[in-house]
Amino acid sequence: MKKSILNIIGLISISLMIAASAQAQWKIDDGLKDAKLKVDYNEDNITAGKAIYDSRCKACHRDIVTTEKNDRALPSAPNLGNKEFQSTNTDGEMFCKISYGNGGGMPPFEKQISDVDKWKVIAFLRSYYPAYKASTASTQAAAPVNSFKGTLNAIKLSYDSENNKVVAQLSGQDGDGNIVNPKGVKVSIYVKRYFGELPLCDGEKTDANGMVSIPLGNLPTDTLGFIIVKASAANNAVSTESKLKVSDGYHWKNPLDGRHLWAVRAKTPLWLLITYLTVTISVLAIIAWAFFQLFRIYNLRER
Ligand code: HEC
Repeated sequence: MKKSILNIIGLISISLMIAASAQAQWKIDDGLKDAKLKVDYNEDNITAGKAIYDSRCKACHRDIVTTEKNDRALPSAPNLGNKEFQSTNTDGEMFCKISYGNGGGMPPFEKQISDVDKWKVIAFLRSYYPAYKASTASTQAAAPVNSFKGTLNAIKLSYDSENNKVVAQLSGQDGDGNIVNPKGVKVSIYVKRYFGELPLCDGEKTDANGMVSIPLGNLPTDTLGFIIVKASAANNAVSTESKLKVSDGYHWKNPLDGRHLWAVRAKTPLWLLITYLTVTISVLAIIAWAFFQLFRIYNLRER
């Protein structure tokens, strides 16, 4: 008896250990394994990365200090300035760790922090690693898919009622921090439907005004005339979701309205009323007649 209890406890603790180790795992995308920093490795980006680190990471990871090995034990978050971590992780691996977390102590930031900002945080982390060499390629483009070189700030959606178009307006900053209208950035726009999302455009490039406008066609709306539109640009560097009013509303007509016999008795044509009454009275009469016959059969049996 005692042995079996011990066995059970052993089994439970082993499965707990397996569960714990299976839970805390880093997921690294194949395509990003060897990726280099995708923003310039310069003062501006390092400063911007520090601001993000201070607001999103510092609560757990605390101050970064340069050490040989991580000087903090779990559950404390590691000191990201340690040489072991810096020398064994590529920029792309850091990017994946920040994006997906590890299902344990490290939370995922895939959605909360834009891709560009994640690279900036990495630029900041790298500033604690003197041996770090930014590749020349990585200093060329902020976001390789786009011809726009700079930082995207936001994407705004609106409805152009004159042309029945959904308009996405991007805003951003060029390398010198000037506010500009990003040109040539790929934008995707979707309309939320009951089941899934209806793409309006996928990878349409912004014009010189930083805009993409897409004809809406004759899309059903909710009863008040709203649709929910989602847009993202440059592989989700910025994204948004808006409720747009695109029509006066969709009026659902009850097919029974005006036709239902009981609802419009006062308006019923006379012939219909007479037919209806005749049919009803005859049915009732037939039922009464049937009962009467039954009653007669019953009486016959009594005698
Ligand atoms: C809620 C606390 C918490 C926050 C917030 C947090 N982290 Fe972590 N992070 C951890 C913990 C705990 C670990 C260690 C996980 C493990 O090893 O199981 C970790 C691990 C990491 C690692 C992997 C280290 C290694 O040795 O491979 C990186 C990189 C990292 N964090 C970066 C960040 C960045 C960048 C931010 C901010 C955007 C951040 N973390 C925010 C708790 C946090």
